[in-house]
Amino acid sequence: MHLKNFLPAFAVLAASVAFAADVGDSFLLHTRSTTMAFAKRNGAWNLLHYGPKVAQGADAAALASDGFAGGSFMATRRPAVYSAYGDKAQDKGINKFGGLQVTHADGCLTTYLEGVKAETVEDRPGVTHLVLTQKDRVYPFYVVQHFRAMEGCDVVETWVELRNEEKGAVRLGRMDSLALDFPLIANRFYLQSATGQWSCESQLVETELVRGQTIAIGSRSGVRDAWEANASFMLTVGEKATETSGRVIGGVLCWSGSWGLSVQRDQCDFVEVRAGADTSQGAYVLDAGKSITLPKFALTYSAAGKGQVSRNIHKWARDWQLPAGHKLRPVLLNSWEGSYFTFTEKVLHDMMDGVKEMGGELFVLDDGWFGTGKYARDAKNQDRVGLGDWVINPEKLPNGLVGLNDEAKKRGLAFGFWVEPEMVNTNSWIYNAHPDWIVREKTRPVNVGRGGSQTVLDYANPAVRQNIYDQLDALYSKIPGLSYIKWDANADFMNMGSPYLDAEHQANMPFDYTVGLYDLLAKLRAKYPQVDIQACSSGGGHADYGFLRYADEFWGSDNTDARERVFIQWGESQFYPACAIAAHVTDVPNHQTGRTTPLKYRFDVAMAGRLGFELHPKNMKPEEVAFAKQCVADYKRIRPTVQQGDLYRLVSPYGGSPLASLMYVSEDKRRAVVFVWSLERGICHDYPAPIVLQGLAQDASYRLKELNVMKGAKHVRVDGKALGGDALMSMGLPIRLRGDYDSAVFELTAE
Ligand code: DGJ
Repeated sequence: MHLKNFLPAFAVLAASVAFAADVGDSFLLHTRSTTMAFAKRNGAWNLLHYGPKVAQGADAAALASDGFAGGSFMATRRPAVYSAYGDKAQDKGINKFGGLQVTHADGCLTTYLEGVKAETVEDRPGVTHLVLTQKDRVYPFYVVQHFRAMEGCDVVETWVELRNEEKGAVRLGRMDSLALDFPLIANRFYLQSATGQWSCESQLVETELVRGQTIAIGSRSGVRDAWEANASFMLTVGEKATETSGRVIGGVLCWSGSWGLSVQRDQCDFVEVRAGADTSQGAYVLDAGKSITLPKFALTYSAAGKGQVSRNIHKWARDWQLPAGHKLRPVLLNSWEGSYFTFTEKVLHDMMDGVKEMGGELFVLDDGWFGTGKYARDAKNQDRVGLGDWVINPEKLPNGLVGLNDEAKKRGLAFGFWVEPEMVNTNSWIYNAHPDWIVREKTRPVNVGRGGSQTVLDYANPAVRQNIYDQLDALYSKIPGLSYIKWDANADFMNMGSPYLDAEHQANMPFDYTVGLYDLLAKLRAKYPQVDIQACSSGGGHADYGFLRYADEFWGSDNTDARERVFIQWGESQFYPACAIAAHVTDVPNHQTGRTTPLKYRFDVAMAGRLGFELHPKNMKPEEVAFAKQCVADYKRIRPTVQQGDLYRLVSPYGGSPLASLMYVSEDKRRAVVFVWSLERGICHDYPAPIVLQGLAQDASYRLKELNVMKGAKHVRVDGKALGGDALMSMGLPIRLRGDYDSAVFELTAE
């Protein structure tokens, strides 16, 4: 080990600083229980450690590997904080990998980074904000890398700004937000990610990452970024982690466009993790004098398994990322599955009456209210027309959205409605007027999607965004007290190009599109801060923290089959808190799978997220309405625990278990809610192993109350009893299940 390359003294910084302060050549960035150790070597910044807390920088320096990785003389890479293609200081030859590839203005393909400034800058209390300014050793090309350590939730946010001060444009072949090389930290690695498709989002997969392999996931949709994979990962370092054991690095990219994420374990056990906006359509052209801010990445580490990784990210989301992460989310009814395109005002009023009776708080009108004349999105035209013409269809709704809002208010309900602002149908007035406003190649026929006519607007073009802003502003401003927007997006980029951008900048379209989308969302959110947003993209296609900077929640999936939802919500819970996962009780047979599950099962599953309805209450029997009323009343009581509490996943639905179970515990550990859902019926599954609880106070005594009891059928013998936290977490809660799709919910209150 070349100890002479290390500078022994690391600066240890207090939790927050009042002004910019130079950190010298080494630095420890701490959260409550993790440390990132940085050191400048050969003029470049390296990451010597990321994991459990290390108090002494000298220890990190002495123990970090430097050329001994895997015990092989071939080990050549150095743990760069931001790995750039071609950098000699990051490799003994030149680095052939790297999350940044720049073709400089003169055609040079390599970038050699050196640290020019390292400082902590002022930030909010509880945050240490480190800024590493790096520059190419020859070219005036700058990489400004930020690390914000959030003390309380053990999360480090990191992002990069690239600044081109060269004489001409540079091309960014890769421009990752995270491009960390880790020194050798284990002999085994396992990568968990979430994959899926429409109505099957966030299915967990895990595989061992063996020596010499790279695992890459990503989305090139451009819009539905969270379908084929979620932009997140959990990397187990060492023996396979469980919910409660093992060393796990978890991370999530905050980006709503195309993205790529890869973990490489090279032939010498060196691990590189990269994540960022995808550039597979071509290099991003950054003009002279311009800079670009790349998407943020949230990174966390736990030595206590995957459950803690999730809790860290959930807390970060509620405390720092969601627009109003501590606001309790309302119980709503969305009109979609209850009426699709066929509603009349009377149908919607009846739905409002129904949801009000059951205790709901918000009515949301879904697709089908807009478009005029031959482009009216009515029961006949359905999804073939109208997108982009955000004006009311007076034939369908003579009193408009304003009238519906009035009706909702009369019933004491809040009101919201659906839009799909990134899309147009070629069958629309707006497209007829502006055929050059869509994402397309100038020379090729336009590929279309849903309804045979759907295309994506070119949000790289400010005039397009302004038009949509003006249309939405006109609608919002007329609806007093408007409280909710469902923001849908039902297409991928089916064409590739921007009529607005010049030939040189065509490949910038996907990135500029997403930046444009955020610009529009930010403007609307700033003018209408009280209007909550649900991110939707053909279901869970916008389960991403880029959108969730502006949106309060996302629609978990178009698949509302409760059994399927157990898996989908389980996958989504890895990185997203319950307050952000919209889960609705729908009619049976289920519209997606045809399966019939009991109403209780549907409630028991939906109540583990942000509860809502998506059915016509008129189709419910009086006893079902009575049951629903009780469920909603109970949900309102347990809502703070479910939506704001810590999640403990107890029994996974994966791996052949006949049931799944999870629980939420309030921060003060005074309240908890336990959910159990059976997945497969069988006599031998009716008396499963007791459910061993987690997260309770050992010495507290909890009064147990079973909720959502249907026809007096309880699942425990200890209902109403006070039970010790220690017993519940060691012996577990013995339960009995009966029949297909049985389930149970228990409320625990400390005495
Ligand atoms: C797709 C969404 O996921 C559904 O919930 C619904 O809003 C439809 N679009 C409407 O077209």
